[in-house]
Amino acid sequence: IKTKVGIIGGGPSGLLLSQLLDLKGIDSVVLERKSREYVLSRIRAGVLEQGFTDLMREAGVGERMDREGEIHDGVVISDNGVEHRIDLKGLTGGDTVMVYGQTEVTRDLYDAREARGGKVIHDADNVQPHDLTTDAPYLTYEKDGETHRVDCDFIVGADGFHGVSRKSIPADQIREYEKVYPFGWLGILSETKPVNDELIYARSDRGFALCSLRSQVLSRYYVQVPLDDKVEDWSDERFWDELKARLPEDVAARLETGPSIEKSIAPLRSFVCEPMRYGNLFLAGDAAHIVPPTGAKGLNSAASDIYYLYHAMIAYYDEGDASGLDSYSETALRRVWKAQRFSWWMTSMLHQFPDHPEFEQKMQETELDYFLGSEAARITLAENYVGLPF
Ligand code: FAD
Ligand code: DHB
Repeated sequence: IKTKVGIIGGGPSGLLLSQLLDLKGIDSVVLERKSREYVLSRIRAGVLEQGFTDLMREAGVGERMDREGEIHDGVVISDNGVEHRIDLKGLTGGDTVMVYGQTEVTRDLYDAREARGGKVIHDADNVQPHDLTTDAPYLTYEKDGETHRVDCDFIVGADGFHGVSRKSIPADQIREYEKVYPFGWLGILSETKPVNDELIYARSDRGFALCSLRSQVLSRYYVQVPLDDKVEDWSDERFWDELKARLPEDVAARLETGPSIEKSIAPLRSFVCEPMRYGNLFLAGDAAHIVPPTGAKGLNSAASDIYYLYHAMIAYYDEGDASGLDSYSETALRRVWKAQRFSWWMTSMLHQFPDHPEFEQKMQETELDYFLGSEAARITLAENYVGLPF
């Protein structure tokens, strides 16, 4: 096959880029290792920044999101049982976030690609990029026992943290920055009414907890757990008891419990790869960077990469202007690092750290107390939470 842009990975990053490019007449091929059903079964992010939702609308896939997604004007932070509302809308002069699951975003993108006859190849095994530093890079993959080849102008690595793209770059051409946290998040999905209209980020002596939702009949809850805990250690009953113990009493009292329909543990990590380009390979989304989930920035950072890459490619194909491609890594990384900072800070402020000296513990308590008590500080939190401009 011959195309303009060869995209590795059919997650939200790869699909959104291929859809946006298609609307501008730029052909692409998406190679996805897994089946569509498998990708759609992975429960991940739930909070979309306005920049992301604008991009979805620009890609012509905003209709169901605008109909079924929930606009949230604020979030709640609870500090050992005391609730503090952060008025996102009021503090930012009108900005809000949208609660609409990553699975739904991905489903809408798959449907849109299919409706436009887009080439999304599932179950593509052993995808390999080749000749990245030449003008004629290409991809190979295996499917149904045969090896196939995709020739292209550019390759986009949108294949997530464990993908092949970043690993194809010679080690001496990139620098990786990483921080691994000494805990994970245990998350469950349950067909129960959400305990609160707005998300609750709860700091407690027993550890962090988060009350989120997908809809008025589908709740998503998380608790901080030790790194070596296994899902099997956590019966539904134990999960609900622990969650309640970390929430304000009135919230715990009205929490509706039920069987979990999904339960998984995610490790927490901060990671950035610099630069995000090698020859004609461009990295985007989790392939280049990971944040701990506390600030809801993972999917949103992926979307900002796509925004920059999309505009750079339009300028290249429409006007022969490669300057956006040349500055892509620098431009994207500037925003990526700010999302890293916010995610690290939210994580540091709201979790219990094993082995934290008492002084650090006091600083953490004081940091949160200060942020909740100061209008200037709450504005800072709000402008980051709703998303910095692209
Ligand atoms: P991905 O969604 O990872 O998509 C990459 C795609 O590439 C996948 O479909 C994968 O199958 C495919 N792929 C991988 N390797 C290859 C290969 N070699 N060849 C072909 N295809 C390949 N963010 C939040 O904001 N909030 C959350 O609650 C949250 N929870 C998360 C929980 C988990 C367990 C994980 C892993 C991430 C979570 N994130 C969360 C982060 C968010 O989901 C990601 O930032 C987002 O999925 C990034 O999108 P992406 O398209 O860049 O990567
Ligand atoms: C969700 C996940 C997050 O990491 C977050 O900060 C907010 C919401 C969620 O899955 O709903």
